[in-house]
Amino acid sequence: MSTERGHSLVEISELGLDPGVPKQELRRLITPKSVCEYRALLASKASLPEGLILDPAAGSGGQLLAYGKYISKHCVGVELSPERAKYCGYVLSRANSTGSFMTICGDGIDAHGVMAAVKTQIGVSSVSMLHVDPARPMDTQKHSVSEMQPPLAKLLESWSEYISSGEQGPAMALDLSPRLAGQQMSEIEHIVTTIFPGTAMTWEWLSRGGGRVDRLCLHTGPLAHTPSVSKSVRLYNDGSFSVLHAREEELDSEDSGWPNYEVMEGDTVALVDPVVTKSRLRGVFEDRLGYNRGELIWAKKSDRRPLVVLREEIRPGSEARPFVMAQGKAVGRLESDLSMMSIDSLAALAMENGISNIQIRCSCEPRLHKRITNRLSKIMGSVDGMSGFLIEDGGTKDLMLCRDVEK
Ligand SMILES: C[S@@+](CC[C@H](N)C(=O)[O-])C[C@H]1O[C@@H](n2cnc3c(N)ncnc32)[C@H](O)[C@@H]1O
Repeated sequence: MSTERGHSLVEISELGLDPGVPKQELRRLITPKSVCEYRALLASKASLPEGLILDPAAGSGGQLLAYGKYISKHCVGVELSPERAKYCGYVLSRANSTGSFMTICGDGIDAHGVMAAVKTQIGVSSVSMLHVDPARPMDTQKHSVSEMQPPLAKLLESWSEYISSGEQGPAMALDLSPRLAGQQMSEIEHIVTTIFPGTAMTWEWLSRGGGRVDRLCLHTGPLAHTPSVSKSVRLYNDGSFSVLHAREEELDSEDSGWPNYEVMEGDTVALVDPVVTKSRLRGVFEDRLGYNRGELIWAKKSDRRPLVVLREEIRPGSEARPFVMAQGKAVGRLESDLSMMSIDSLAALAMENGISNIQIRCSCEPRLHKRITNRLSKIMGSVDGMSGFLIEDGGTKDLMLCRDVEK
């Protein structure tokens, strides 16, 4: 078999299984297991049509492995790099799953070639669900949609004749860069709707709690959270998760409604998970807190630590709580930058307020961060006190020390 681009398709058992160790470059690309399992669980609850589960850029095979664990279907992975394909084949060959697996080394765009091999080997001729996590250039901030590998438009066009498509459109999970700009998201929606008109779509912004968007995935057809078009997920290590979601008309603007509020001593503040702001679900977050729209003060816009000022602390049972990274009472202002020079003033401010352990939750260069935390623990190590955190104020360039309201 050979593909348009000259790559031959090889069923991986023909290459011999070689576990090896995934090279650094593959390790960087591997989707975390908790994310793979969460997605597979979600897909297992959708009403998927007949056919196989396809990952045409399978990498390590971790995502297919999880689908096979939760869904009793044939799972087929295609991987261009022979080394990765061997690794993927090895991973899948050791699976103890309800689904069965086939790994092909070749071009994921070659739908005809792949399906001919699949039909011969396992007798299935349609795709129930497609999952793809395309490779992208390292500089994900600036890359264009056309630089994804395999290229999305060509990939979907090639598979359109095999993928089953019901009323809502085909079941697809397009696992994309969390740094895609709004314009790029629109381009992707355009690609999907040009090839599969009328497809239901939901964007999912997923966080594992580290103060950043970990994954951005477009779910389509039966995988979409219809009628919601945007969804925030906070995923925990034990596999549990919390969700916020909204329809198009409930979304707010990511950019407006940030008054740069000057935090006062005594204010109750919280750092919100950035998935909430990125997914434009600030209003839904407010609803879950029991606030009227616009009542919550969005004090400081930030890609990593959006800051809000609350009426009162958020209780543990609140549906909004999983989307809060830290909350506390502002106790003192540090009218200087965070530097080795200002540590003594910070430590003094903390001790005055009964705080002995400070988390740095403002911008700080990683090397300096380490030096500062070492120095702080030297100064305050033996002092008994509460925990706190340091944030950037919304209205000034000052830093605010906050005392945790929990723990
Ligand atoms: C982001 S990685 C996928 C990682 C995977 N989700 C995992 O957890 O290991 C994208 C993969 O697509 C593969 N790839 C790129 N172009 C391809 C093509 N045309 N056909 C098949 N695989 C391709 C790359 O070699 C890379 O392994």
